[in-house]
Amino acid sequence: MCKAIIIRNYGDAKVLELEKISLNEPGDRELLIRHTAIGVNYHDIYVRSGLYKTLNLPGIPGCEAIGIIEKIGSGVKNFKNGDRIVYITSDYGAYATHRMLSDHLAIKVPDMISDEVMATNFLRSMTVKMLLEKVTKITLADTILVTAAAGGVGRLLCQWANSLGVCVIGTVSNQNKVSKANSYGCKYTIVCDQNDVVEKVMNFTGGKGVDVVYDSVGSETFEHSLATLKKCGHLVNYGQSSGPVEPLMMSTLAIKSLTVSRPILFHFIEHTEIYHQMAHSVFDFFMSNRLLLPESESYPLKDASITHDILESRRGGGSLYLIP
Ligand SMILES: NC(=O)c1ccc[n+]([C@@H]2O[C@H](COP(=O)([O-])OP(=O)(O)OC[C@H]3O[C@@H](n4cnc5c(N)ncnc54)[C@H](OP(=O)(O)O)[C@@H]3O)[C@@H](O)[C@H]2O)c1
Repeated sequence: MCKAIIIRNYGDAKVLELEKISLNEPGDRELLIRHTAIGVNYHDIYVRSGLYKTLNLPGIPGCEAIGIIEKIGSGVKNFKNGDRIVYITSDYGAYATHRMLSDHLAIKVPDMISDEVMATNFLRSMTVKMLLEKVTKITLADTILVTAAAGGVGRLLCQWANSLGVCVIGTVSNQNKVSKANSYGCKYTIVCDQNDVVEKVMNFTGGKGVDVVYDSVGSETFEHSLATLKKCGHLVNYGQSSGPVEPLMMSTLAIKSLTVSRPILFHFIEHTEIYHQMAHSVFDFFMSNRLLLPESESYPLKDASITHDILESRRGGGSLYLIP
């Protein structure tokens, strides 16, 4: 029997209720997928709470999952029943035992990469690929600042940038996360509740500042992030774990000829060919590097609310996934 988490009203994690659903036969270019592992992202919390009104209610949340193809539509050429695939979609519907998926979104996963690793890292590592290669073009000579360096995207970003030879400075919220951030490749790690982030970054960089800041925390860190940039630096605000950033006066940027961007992964993977290229580069990255990943925790689909509570309490980021 097919089941899914259906959101009927915006609210706290309790609105995530498991219900029966029915699915039709696959259309011409569709695949019937039986999910084996489902990613849980901060985005899902914004969708559930109503901060983003991007899911029509009642609706099934979730934007990434991995699974097995059970049936294919008559026009599908590149897949067969039994193929193991992963996908990201801005149309949601991943918090389900089964779903219908357009074939252009499905990507076969190399056997070497487990469901668990994909479910906890696929969307996050695609984000890193976007940040390092599409939004900015960092070079060996660059120094970057990564906020929440021990978080889900943060730790992948630090490891990927470190593998390119870039000097990485990370911020974390408490002393316990310093050694983790260091192990992810931060040359310097700053505990940001000490309120001297700018001074420390300036000390580490000989007073110059950093070339790029990747800021996922948003309102709490934005001002400091801007102040740590060198002339012509670039602040990439790609998340808002602490809340949305206040409106910005353009003239603030003129003081150091700064650039600010606010990229969203969905926009960078709209083109199918680019989406597939980025995914294969992410697979290569996972297969050719010994990445440090925290132990993951799985929960049954019916307990999706628990995973949201954990994420919102700042524990377990990047390590949670759901099993149908
Ligand atoms: N633009 C895009 O396309 C895109 C793609 C993926 C993710 N994102 C966004 O990037 C952000 C991080 O995603 P993620 O998967 O890395 O999440 P995550 O694994 O849950 O990590 C978030 C980290 O943010 C830090 N944080 C600082 N202030 C916080 C606060 N007030 N509340 C909660 N956390 C706070 C925490 O680390 P410390 O305790 O060390 O500070 C936490 O571990 C989210 O906002 C997400 O929506 C955006």
